[in-house]
Amino acid sequence: MNKIETEILYADPEGFDDAVAIAVTKLKAGEVVALPTETVYGLAANALDESAVAQVFEAKGRPTTDPLIVHIGRNEQIHDVCELSAELDTVVQKLISEFWPGPLTLVLPKKAIIPELVTSGQGTVAVRMSEHPVMRAVCCEMNTPIAAPSANRFGCISPTSATAVEKELGGRIGLILDGGACNAGIESTIIRVGVGEKRPELHLLRSGPIVKEELQKMGKVIRPKKVRNVKEAPGQLESHYAPATPMYVFEKPEDFVPDPELSYGLLSYRGSEKEGYINLHDWDQVEELSPGKGKLPEAAVRLFFALRQLDESGVDVIIAEPVAETGVGVAINDRLRRASAKTRQQ
Ligand code: TXA
Ligand code: MG
Repeated sequence: MNKIETEILYADPEGFDDAVAIAVTKLKAGEVVALPTETVYGLAANALDESAVAQVFEAKGRPTTDPLIVHIGRNEQIHDVCELSAELDTVVQKLISEFWPGPLTLVLPKKAIIPELVTSGQGTVAVRMSEHPVMRAVCCEMNTPIAAPSANRFGCISPTSATAVEKELGGRIGLILDGGACNAGIESTIIRVGVGEKRPELHLLRSGPIVKEELQKMGKVIRPKKVRNVKEAPGQLESHYAPATPMYVFEKPEDFVPDPELSYGLLSYRGSEKEGYINLHDWDQVEELSPGKGKLPEAAVRLFFALRQLDESGVDVIIAEPVAETGVGVAINDRLRRASAKTRQQ
């Protein structure tokens, strides 16, 4: 790829309208733009413009077998993107009135207007409405669906700030809108929605900020068992979100046997001795996700930021403490497991 200059524009209250207008102009011209959402930054393109969508795959180095999420700004637009039977529409309307705008992505039958490139040739499309004012405003001004995967290089750590996007994609994209740090910090929950016999069926393809307990109020939550290939459940790639530094997550602290030749960094939940890691070793660097009592939503917000800090700190190995497997802790542990999968596979 030719190196291009990457501009960062502040979408703060003063510069908001101008920044949004510039982003929309570029998107309409078929360019890609990185935009903040409440979960992570996304690399946006007009979803109806195949050559713009192709640039998203190229900038990320993402295989075209891994489909993109489409973002919309108004509820009605779901009918521009998805082909819904009356029964399915009833289920979908309940879900979106409860959770949109917000970090829930719905996988639904697609309309022909959505290019195959966006959905990797599948009959379904993943759709969501972000609650971030910048992404929302751009979607509404564009008035066409916007394809936007996370704005990182394929398989690498997701970006939760404009600086992180610049590190991932600087020189590969022309514009980043800086809307500050993302306030959910991990990617949206993804469900495939079915009408079901008695209750709606919600197949949980990726855990995220909207947790299982919330979804259970709306239908039967089904966890797909074993994922055999990308095509079947593309969101479930085993290795993902990986730092460049080798990383391990152990079942219990005692499984950690340090090599005296190496330096170690700890990704700690709350910096407490109780987890059994802080005093286990003379760590070269410690990052705490939620210092003090430990709050899982705060840990989620800081997860990718702290992982990036450790990755850049120069330690030889990162050790991560798992967090409580409850609420958004399920999604955090999922990210930790996937982030360490590359090291396990080596
Ligand atoms: O929070 C988010 O969802 C962020 C922000 C930018 O919106 N986006 C995001 O996109 O995480 P991405 O591309 O990094 O992850 C989307 C996941 C991928 O793993 C993809 O395989 C899956 O969604 N996906 C997309 N379309 C799908 C479909 N039709 N069926 C199943 N999975 C799908
Ligand atoms: Mg991603």
